[in-house]
Amino acid sequence: MPPPEREKITSVSLKALKEKGQKITAITAYDFPTARLASLAGIDVILVGDSLGMVLQGHAHTLKVTIDDIIYHTRHVERAEPHSLIVSDMPFRSFHVSVEKAVENACRCVQEGGAATVKLEGGRKRFKVIEAILNAEIPVMAHLGLTPQSIHQLGGFKVQGNLRDQAREIYEDALALEQIGVCAIVLESIPLELSQRITDSLKVPTIGIGAGKFCDGQILVFQDLVGLTELYLPKFVRRYADTHALWLEALQKYIDDIRHGRFPDDSESYHLKGDIADFLP
Ligand code: KIV
Repeated sequence: MPPPEREKITSVSLKALKEKGQKITAITAYDFPTARLASLAGIDVILVGDSLGMVLQGHAHTLKVTIDDIIYHTRHVERAEPHSLIVSDMPFRSFHVSVEKAVENACRCVQEGGAATVKLEGGRKRFKVIEAILNAEIPVMAHLGLTPQSIHQLGGFKVQGNLRDQAREIYEDALALEQIGVCAIVLESIPLELSQRITDSLKVPTIGIGAGKFCDGQILVFQDLVGLTELYLPKFVRRYADTHALWLEALQKYIDDIRHGRFPDDSESYHLKGDIADFLP
């Protein structure tokens, strides 16, 4: 069955979804088949997240992901031609060194990867960079709260905004980010009372992960959602399937069938039209 015709989601349509009161659906994808599935399912936003450093590359954090990794994976997502908005996540070092380098890297995500928006972590501290990327005509999605690229400064993957100073900083960052023109703000691992206040105060949509039900949208890592990750999962992840068990069982059956001569069978093999003796001496 061909995928249903859908209107392409753009950075501009995100705000319209908030105005309509329609929740925004977002998911990470790093490859062609996942992006096809996400688009077929009707997901609004596909994030080529630097979470791929943990989920695909097996690191304990996201800090080793490079801009080339992100571009490589964005290219595969673009090839799926999803109706969803494609967002490239700018990894550590891609926007921390200089404004010029940040703009160059954001342009690469669009030109070489095919992204229509870039996401980057941080609030007012990153304003110069965000403004310069916006001036290069590239929409920016911001990311506040637990920003995994700052784990060394934060002391680990910890809930943010549960102290008064932190809550104020996140809130004020969100207001200021709207003023400079970001198209959406990801809120990660903050209390739901704080994300509710931020969401109610903004015209641009908030997309939550571990930030409770009041955000304008939600995002999860695909592999977490389908139960492909067997490692520790934060409490905000809801597993909608247990595909880890499914894949493991399939692999074990495959091994068993090979060892017992059950795979491949005749129907899975090619046959000569004639006797082997007609072909070989
Ligand atoms: O890298 C990522 O997947 C993210 C989401 C968790 C928001 O930044």
